[in-house]
Amino acid sequence: MHILAINGSHRGDRGWTRFLIDCLARGATEAGATCEVVTLAKLKINRCLSCYQCQQDAHHLHCVYEDKDDAAGVMAKMAAADLLIYGTPIYMMSLSSLLKTFLDRLYSTMHIADMQLSESGLVHHHINPAISSKPFAALIVSSNIEDASWHNAAHYFRLYGRFMNAPLRGLLIRNATPLLDAARDPDKAKRLPKVAQVYSAYEQAGRELAREQAISPFTLRRANQEIVPVPLFGLLKHLRPVKQLVIENTAKYTA
Ligand SMILES: Cc1cc2nc3c(=O)[nH]c(=O)nc-3n(C[C@H](O)[C@H](O)[C@H](O)COP(=O)(O)O)c2cc1C
Repeated sequence: MHILAINGSHRGDRGWTRFLIDCLARGATEAGATCEVVTLAKLKINRCLSCYQCQQDAHHLHCVYEDKDDAAGVMAKMAAADLLIYGTPIYMMSLSSLLKTFLDRLYSTMHIADMQLSESGLVHHHINPAISSKPFAALIVSSNIEDASWHNAAHYFRLYGRFMNAPLRGLLIRNATPLLDAARDPDKAKRLPKVAQVYSAYEQAGRELAREQAISPFTLRRANQEIVPVPLFGLLKHLRPVKQLVIENTAKYTA
């Protein structure tokens, strides 16, 4: 079992996306899988020019950048993997532009004139199943507590799975990232006990991906739980006065 994680954080190896990918990888490795992390921020990934050279007979499925940047190398790694993890921070309520730029480049592996119906019944075109249809888990990382922050990205990954015939094996959503630091400071860790539970749920998720190629609903609930130390925060956070309190208390927890 070989897992390839694609880290779309613009902070590369220094961000929470990478930190959480490493928690997953630790669990997966412990359960016998091999894991590799591709840090897009360290690579040269040109944006698709929409030149459609890849769709012309003379250059069929060959991108103008094929030998000029690192996108083809990442696609080769995807083809060799059994399972993918797409990791992205939320930037402006959406995927990171780095991950999206890379995913756009998959277009050069698809024959768009060859129209087909996806397994979920969506009109699409030929895709390269060895690259696009891999089972995958998605990791979405955002600083805000609002679910509306990550809705776009979650919807994107669900649609990606449906268009690409790629089974989505777990949607990990980590909000409130400024609180994650708690585990590094014993005083904060006492005030934010759920952070440690989240880290251990990520390791468990990694083990499950390695063993069953899927994250169980129980582990997903633990990994995606609210870490703000207020009972029933998942419900209460939708109330305006509670949002106001969150704003007032943010400095206390992130200082
Ligand atoms: C340009 C930019 C836009 C952002 N937009 C949002 C946003 O819309 N919603 C949100 O919750 N967080 C937003 N954030 C915060 C990041 O999602 C958050 O800091 C996350 O932890 C970054 O991932 P990283 O730690 O891997 O770098 C934004 C950050 C940047 C740099």
